Formats: sequence, structure tokens, C-alpha cells
Amino acid sequence: MPRGLFITFEGLDGSGKTTQIKRLAAWMQKRGHSPVLTRQPGGTATGDRIRALLLDSGSTPVAPMAEMALMFADRAQAIAEVIEPALAAGQIVLCDRFTDSTEAYQGGARGLGSETVLALHRLVCGNLQPDLTLLLLPSLESSLERARRRNERQIAREGTNENRFEQEKEAFFSRVWQAYRDIAIRESERVALIEGNLTIEDVHEQIVEAVSERLVSIPWTV
Ligand code: TMP
Repeated sequence: MPRGLFITFEGLDGSGKTTQIKRLAAWMQKRGHSPVLTRQPGGTATGDRIRALLLDSGSTPVAPMAEMALMFADRAQAIAEVIEPALAAGQIVLCDRFTDSTEAYQGGARGLGSETVLALHRLVCGNLQPDLTLLLLPSLESSLERARRRNERQIAREGTNENRFEQEKEAFFSRVWQAYRDIAIRESERVALIEGNLTIEDVHEQIVEAVSERLVSIPWTV
């Protein structure tokens, strides 16, 4: 059984990842593949509990090192429970965020440094690397605006917003944005950088192009 494909999606809060993962999954389904969809933090029962601890805006403060360690605890569980078994069974895994998120948010924005994150990745995740990472990087202003609107809708609907990160200041997201760009430049073989304020359709087309061009082991024609 040939090993499956591991595809990750990255970007700031409000970059449109969730919409694009669904679009790509539908595109693959039309071509006879049933990808496994998962997300981080979360995606397993243990991971969902870690997610609540990390993101709940009502929870007590979490120190940056503890935050990073929890992200990796969640990831180790997801690799063991979901990602590795699916890849071993020859399936395609579409994962909403992976270690690039930790490098951008904890390494870059929280200032823990890339080396610390990459060292933990080697230790905790056996250095598992995606076959392809789709990094959605619209301008910082449009990501912030989208995240703000989503936040307001959630507060109006539920009286609270789930995400502690979305309460961070603009300077924090500017550091995340820059760290993502640095990763894309350093790892240009793995990371397809989709930049600019494009329509949902245009982003989808660029994603399909990257998948077809870079993952040639699967013939993607219908
Ligand atoms: P999302 O699932 O809606 O994208 O939200 C997850 C939040 O968690 C997002 O603000 C980014 C943050 N995050 C990190 O800070 N580090 C990580 O390693 C991951 C996976 C997520």
C-alpha cells in the first residue's frame, strides 16, 4: 500500500482556510478520493479538551511555554490517532494548521524562536513533514478585518468568542504574518504561498494548481 499524502493549510485567523479546505475536499471527492479532514488544535477527543483549554477566552492565562507545549501535546495525539494511521492506509489527509502555526504564533509572535519550535517538532512529532503546505496570506489588513467581523458575529450569536488569540493586538498578528512569510521563503519546496487579496474562486484555482503541479504521484484528472 503506497503511503498517503499529507497536506496542511496555514494562515492567519480570517485568511479563509476553512472555506478553502472544504472546497479542496469537494474537488478531490469529484476525482474519487475521500480525504480525511482534521484540524489543530483539536481533531481528537483529547485534542478537543486541549483546544478548549488553549482557546477559551474565559480560561485563566497560559504562559507562552505552556501554550507551545500544549500545542505539541495536541499534535502528538493527532499524529498517533488520526494522521499516521490515515497516511499508512494510503489516504489523503487535509489538516487545518500544523507545526508552521506553532512556529508563526509561538515562535514568532510570542518570541519563543523558530529553533525551539523546530527542535520540539523533531522530538515530539518525529519531524513529520507535510508533502505540501498551502499558506494563505492575504494582506494583514484584510485578514484582521475578516477575523474582527467573525468575532463580532460570534459574540452576537453566543455572547462570547471562543478564541483567545483573536483578542490579541495588531502587532501580534503582524509578527505572525512576517513569520509565515519567512517560513515560505525558507521552505519554498514544501510551501505554496498564496498571496494577495484574491476572490475565493481565485484562491481555490491556485490551490488546485499547486496540488496538481506538486503532487504528481496522483493523476488528478477526473
Ligand atoms: P483556528 O482553528 O480557528 O484557526 O484557531 C486556532 C488558533 O490557535 C489560531 O488563533 C492560531 C492558534 N494556534 C497557535 O497559536 N499555535 C498552533 O500551533 C496552532 C495549531 C494554533
